[in-house]
Amino acid sequence: MTVEQLQKMIAQAKKENDVCILAHSYQNREICEIADIVGDSFKLSVEAQKVQNSKIVMCGVHFMAETAKLLSPEKTVVIASDEAGCPMAEQFTPEEVLAFKAEHPDYKVVSYINTTAALKCVTDVCVTSSSAVEIVGKLPDKNILFIPDKNLGAFVKSAYPEKNIVCWNGGCPVHGAMTAADVKKIREKYPEAKFLVHPECPPEVCENADYIGSTAGIIAYARKSDAEQFIIGTEISITEQLSYEMPTKQFFNLSKRLICSDMKTTTLVDVYNAVCGKGGLEITFDEDTAAKARHCIDEMIRLGG
Ligand code: 13P
Ligand code: SF4
Repeated sequence: MTVEQLQKMIAQAKKENDVCILAHSYQNREICEIADIVGDSFKLSVEAQKVQNSKIVMCGVHFMAETAKLLSPEKTVVIASDEAGCPMAEQFTPEEVLAFKAEHPDYKVVSYINTTAALKCVTDVCVTSSSAVEIVGKLPDKNILFIPDKNLGAFVKSAYPEKNIVCWNGGCPVHGAMTAADVKKIREKYPEAKFLVHPECPPEVCENADYIGSTAGIIAYARKSDAEQFIIGTEISITEQLSYEMPTKQFFNLSKRLICSDMKTTTLVDVYNAVCGKGGLEITFDEDTAAKARHCIDEMIRLGG
């Protein structure tokens, strides 16, 4: 069977089973093509609320499917690849956060959305990479614990030197592995190219970038810019997506090591099976966890617009 034939079968099965397919932009191209909604974490969170279908199939990582379920408790939510976790999401435990809160009751806990539902239960407000700076700016609080990504935390901190933002030592193993040497090498090769980078990369990588922002922000910058060449400092699927969308411009990976193996575990066959109810993993929560974990996502959507 060809990719196209399988995509047609998914399109048909989607209608028969009243399914909406959500895909994060780091998914492979053939999956983005059959998704109803493709976007970054913030877009998927917002859109998950509006979906009318009785079932959502999430092509992304586990915390994204959890977020969709928290926002649509009445729907069946299935993650297409049950192996797709995000290593960053589990770097800290709720007990560690509660211990910090007990010692520092005047701190607000701000968590990147790349966290487990259990961590969200002890979080005051969630952020995504595209909403972090805006949302932290709207909080009246001076003292903030920002988890789990210390690089995104440092990026937010640089926008608000007047705030006391404490970061723990967590982060994305993929973006976090980028180095200043990677930047030097590619910038020497393409000196005219604009350098667009995700804030999950270390500060020494983001230094002197032309733009720092989420996947959606990077895509928007490349669309608007008159430049002809771009170095993309995030997951390699974004470089591919941009190259297909704008073939007259040139896009280069900061490094081919920027590949999220968890995102890449999803296959078209996984999607087909999940849509037909024969595969994937259904996300469920007990009522208490659902109510507590949802609060910080609602806060994010309220503050982020
Ligand atoms: P976005 O918030 O830009 O979608 O990024 C999610 C993510 O997992 C980045 O590694
Ligand atoms: Fe998690 Fe990093 Fe993969 Fe994003 S790229 S899902 S933060 S491991």
